[in-house]
Amino acid sequence: MPASTGKFLFHRPELARRIVDRLTGDSPFGAEPTLCLTAPRRTGKSTFLRHDLTPELDNRHIGVVYVDLWSDRNADPGHLVAEAIRQALRRADGLPVRVARSAGLSKVGVGATAIDIDRIGQPQGATLTDALGALMDRTGKRVALVVDEAQHAIVTDAGLNAMFALKAARDTLNTRDDGADGPNLVLVLTGSHRDKLGRLVLGRDQPFYGASVQDFPLLGRDYTDAYTAWLNGRLAADNRFDPAAVYAAFDAVGRRPEILAQILKDIALDEGAGELRTALSAGAQTLRGRLWQDYESAWSSLTRLQQAVIERLVAEEAKFTPFSAASLAAYSAAVGDAVEVPSVQAAIEALRRDNLVWRSARGQYALEDQGMAEWLKARRPPEGPEPAQTVREPGSAAPTARGTPA
Ligand SMILES: Nc1ncnc2c1ncn2[C@@H]1O[C@H](COP(=O)(O)OP(=O)(O)O)[C@@H](O)[C@H]1O
Ligand SMILES: [Mg+2]
Repeated sequence: MPASTGKFLFHRPELARRIVDRLTGDSPFGAEPTLCLTAPRRTGKSTFLRHDLTPELDNRHIGVVYVDLWSDRNADPGHLVAEAIRQALRRADGLPVRVARSAGLSKVGVGATAIDIDRIGQPQGATLTDALGALMDRTGKRVALVVDEAQHAIVTDAGLNAMFALKAARDTLNTRDDGADGPNLVLVLTGSHRDKLGRLVLGRDQPFYGASVQDFPLLGRDYTDAYTAWLNGRLAADNRFDPAAVYAAFDAVGRRPEILAQILKDIALDEGAGELRTALSAGAQTLRGRLWQDYESAWSSLTRLQQAVIERLVAEEAKFTPFSAASLAAYSAAVGDAVEVPSVQAAIEALRRDNLVWRSARGQYALEDQGMAEWLKARRPPEGPEPAQTVREPGSAAPTARGTPA
């Protein structure tokens, strides 16, 4: 058996080249200095950004600043962006932070401008434009700012402001005339949630109005073929997977590498790789079942009211208004009892705490994980709820029809 036990990593250099071509304008269609790419969770976006896109940008002498807005769910997205730029500046400075600090060097001169690194992005501090400009001056490179899970920025006002600041930086820095071909600053925004990412680009009042949200290509047959060959090289000769069956399984589980790996592992250890076909013919449903166990257990831990809120959100999508009379009536019908605004507020708070429901700074709601909506729709409808006798006590105050009560 081969000695290598490392993790399998499939590279997509061609895709990286195409994306960088588009960003820099090395394409017949001119530069698109902002790209928004979306694909469901756990399908390989971050892996691609780190292992394929970053090296390609490097090859083209473009400095990369990477920030994952999910790296710390509690941190303000605005701070995370500023911190990533700060770290890049410190690296460019070549001085360990502690030395710089003790030498009183937190303020570093860059040409005519002085940047106080510690206060980047703060009200009286350097703007992101200044900071990114300083980074370009120091490194002598164009910069790509890669914001992973960018939709998370719109959860707070500070995050949204950071996105506006990035747009301003892009517009200002890209008009600098220093003989560079193509834009000085390019932005790559990725997200696991198409609708949410879309909110950054769709409205005139949104930071990246005009940019389009594009599907990030999912891993395909070339990935499963390479993975199958890699696995088979590590399995006994009578325990081998068939590439076509592996691809079919991968597709059935939404092209998520981890779930495929888990399925193959279970089958190889239990029944033997040859049985993958049999497992497959038992139906994609069985495979999906593994994917959906997570949703099932999350769901069964919710109160009936929390479930009713999610059902309403799934049914209404962008039109969802959590406290409207119609929504309250729907919850009441599901719960079989009158439902008032405060208990809905409490339910939504709990759902947000559990990362099931997302709310933007502007009061829009969405499911954190769109897969859950798919699961809910495909799932056998629950045993019919008893029809609610009374939706509200007669004469009780009508609930407010919009927004979160103060
Ligand atoms: N190109 C790839 N080759 C091998 N494994 C991959 C690849 N892309 C993703 N994976 C695996 O799939 C899982 C999810 O990948 P990740 O990049 O975190 O997804 P996302 O950022 O879309 O949520 C990880 O366990 C990762 O190792
Ligand atoms: Mg990711």
